[in-house]
Amino acid sequence: MTGGFSPNWLALREPLDIAARNRDVETAFRAQLPEGTARILDLASGAGSTVAALQPLLNAETQWQLTDYDPALLDVAAARWSGGSGVSVSTRQIDLASDLESLTFEEVDAITTSAFLDLVSEAFLDRLATQIAASGKPFLASLTYDGRTTFSPPHPLDNDLVEALNKDQKSEKGFGPALGPEAAGEAVARLQAKGLQVLSGPSDWQVGPDDRDFLEEFLGGWFRAARSRWDIDAVEPTALEDWYRLRMAQIEAGELSVMVGHVDLVAWQ
Ligand SMILES: C[S@@+](CC[C@H](N)C(=O)[O-])C[C@H]1O[C@@H](n2cnc3c(N)ncnc32)[C@H](O)[C@@H]1O
Repeated sequence: MTGGFSPNWLALREPLDIAARNRDVETAFRAQLPEGTARILDLASGAGSTVAALQPLLNAETQWQLTDYDPALLDVAAARWSGGSGVSVSTRQIDLASDLESLTFEEVDAITTSAFLDLVSEAFLDRLATQIAASGKPFLASLTYDGRTTFSPPHPLDNDLVEALNKDQKSEKGFGPALGPEAAGEAVARLQAKGLQVLSGPSDWQVGPDDRDFLEEFLGGWFRAARSRWDIDAVEPTALEDWYRLRMAQIEAGELSVMVGHVDLVAWQ
């Protein structure tokens, strides 16, 4: 299982996620839900960002079943929708890598996940696609990182660093070698191969200079991951540190914007 998903980081990214989510994909997903009360199973829920994003668009009676490995994140999610919020949320701590098949997809009306598919391996994606197809239920997978990150203003080291970061995205995240930037394309292909209809579209983060707290947190983690995979001898390590210092100074001065590419997809029978 992957560590490092702090409630603070998930809270910082939530508004960007909500703004980025692909409206056509969400509309197609909603069209697959029953008219009355819907039961939705959310995989790798973290602190409940999928509920925060979708609940305002759904029937008030929606019953959410949140699942995650991290009990502390599930506690945050449960607390967010407790005490008269009108939203029904239950939680289950689970290691999806070993216990995916213990979830009863056929007993809910839909399955969702967000910011998760890029962590998983080809083998896990196969298992997930099999479960979804067998259940006959619609599946919404939001905010899968697709390998594109661009900075404004640009810098000559940006592309090499993005390449190194994308290499890190494919390292083991608890499911075997992660698909990283290939995850969304692989998911579409596998779900279609199971005979499902699939609609996908971009859900890119557009991070502006005003999002300083997010940018500082994002760039710190992003840079550490990219540096760990850096194997280009031609560039002095000090050049990497200079890049990071410059970017942090640009954040401080309100001069940095970042676009991070994501894909949303919905599959149904
Ligand atoms: C990037 S976070 C996304 C959380 C949430 N869906 C969101 O959009 O904010 C990835 C989530 O996957 C969960 N996760 C990672 N490996 C897992 C595993 N083996 N079983 C269950 N959950 C896992 C983490 O605990 C984390 O909450």
